[in-house]
Amino acid sequence: MKVDVLLGLQWGDEGKGKIVDVLTPNYDIVARFQGGPNAGHTLEFENQKYILRSIPSGIFQQGKTNIIGNGVVLDPALFKAEIEALEASGHPLTDRLLISKKAHLILPTHRLLDAAMEQAKGDSKIGTTGKGIGPAYTDKVSRNGLRVGDLFHNFEEKYKQATSRHIEMLAQYDFEYNLEEIEAEWFAGVEKLKAFRIIDSEHFINKSLASGQGILAEGAQGSMLDIDFGSYPFVTSSNTICAGACTGLGVAPNKIGDVFGIFKAYCTRVGSGPFPTELFDEDGQQMRDVGREYGSVTGRPRRCGWIDLVALRYTVMLNGVTKLVMMKSDVLDTFETIKACVAYNINGEETEDLPYDISENIEPVFVELPGWKTDMTEMQSEDEFPEEFNNYLSFLEEELGVPIAIVSVGPNRAQTILREQSK
Ligand code: GDP
Ligand code: IMO
Ligand code: MG
Repeated sequence: MKVDVLLGLQWGDEGKGKIVDVLTPNYDIVARFQGGPNAGHTLEFENQKYILRSIPSGIFQQGKTNIIGNGVVLDPALFKAEIEALEASGHPLTDRLLISKKAHLILPTHRLLDAAMEQAKGDSKIGTTGKGIGPAYTDKVSRNGLRVGDLFHNFEEKYKQATSRHIEMLAQYDFEYNLEEIEAEWFAGVEKLKAFRIIDSEHFINKSLASGQGILAEGAQGSMLDIDFGSYPFVTSSNTICAGACTGLGVAPNKIGDVFGIFKAYCTRVGSGPFPTELFDEDGQQMRDVGREYGSVTGRPRRCGWIDLVALRYTVMLNGVTKLVMMKSDVLDTFETIKACVAYNINGEETEDLPYDISENIEPVFVELPGWKTDMTEMQSEDEFPEEFNNYLSFLEEELGVPIAIVSVGPNRAQTILREQSK
């Protein structure tokens, strides 16, 4: 068996949580491979809404194993809060959630450093989620990090060493904080975490594959936030692209199967950084209102714009996408005209390839297509799709060179249409 990967092709919040939940019945195991509680993955079914941060989106389907892989950074305090909220709603997880020994810990001081560094950047701040992601990955790469496996070996000393180093760093900033307050919560989280099965997840995953189990790897953030290929420096601190599933789970590249690439029928971004097709007019506001485009973690309004096929072509290429998933089609239901950016005009020259720097002088070149002006939210099958919508799908498939296998027409699990070719 192979590992199928599901990941975002834009700037995050494409709807990954919803589709992982929909696809989970086809697999035995769902595994997160990177990111941490900067993610907010929303699932809606049976009149309930859940937002998952560190926990994989396969947990609501019965009989499935979920894994937090080695590439993830985990904050025990937020983990505890997430687990307790799920327990309170009747979803105990202790026997279904496994955690890699090699996942790195986000310490309370990582969160403080994230806030202090952002404050110091002033107008050029990244607009991070404030969850300590950058500092935790920085410690991992500089070989100073603490891992979940360290919790069982002389942890207090290692914690003190790391924290005192961070306190020295914090002293360089004009930043006030109260460490004791968040530390108590954090250590309570550590006790909760220790109650879970902490495993060598790379062995578990490869043995599961060898014994014929199906695995779905769940990405967080989006490819345009990738540390190497995203709109640097306005990115997150991990490899969000498909290659991240190999390093974040310990899976060889030849063990990767299908790659599901998810995108919205338009485009959004939260936080700072370039966004060539961003709209500042009524159309953008309409997308935000109808699509309820407010961050699921921070509540920040998401910036909205037309679909960017220059960026999407690039991320389809980087990920080797085999199946596309188009989300939030219903948000465009009332638009007269749909626009799609097919090229960038940079100082009078047109390019279809994403340039090194997308922050300046880019004029998107748009193609206009007629809107479908039909309520799609109740549709059950592709036979009901309006002609104009089918034309939009065919246009995108042609531009991106990959079939659109799934179309989402609303936030609910049931509002998902699998197209014939993908069944
Ligand atoms: P993720 O981070 O990729 O899992 O996405 P988020 O959960 O942060 O953001 C997606 C938002 O869109 C959530 O509020 C979902 O409930 C919602 N959503 C998902 N699919 C659809 C859809 O097809 N239509 C509409 N209107 N909302 C959707
Ligand atoms: P999901 O998994 C959208 C953005 C932040 C900021 C940048 C760096 O829900 O799609 P970080 O806290 O990671 O250092 O912030 O990345 N960002 C996201 N944007 N969806 C996410 O996750 C994001 N995770 C981080 O807004 O611009
Ligand atoms: Mg999200």
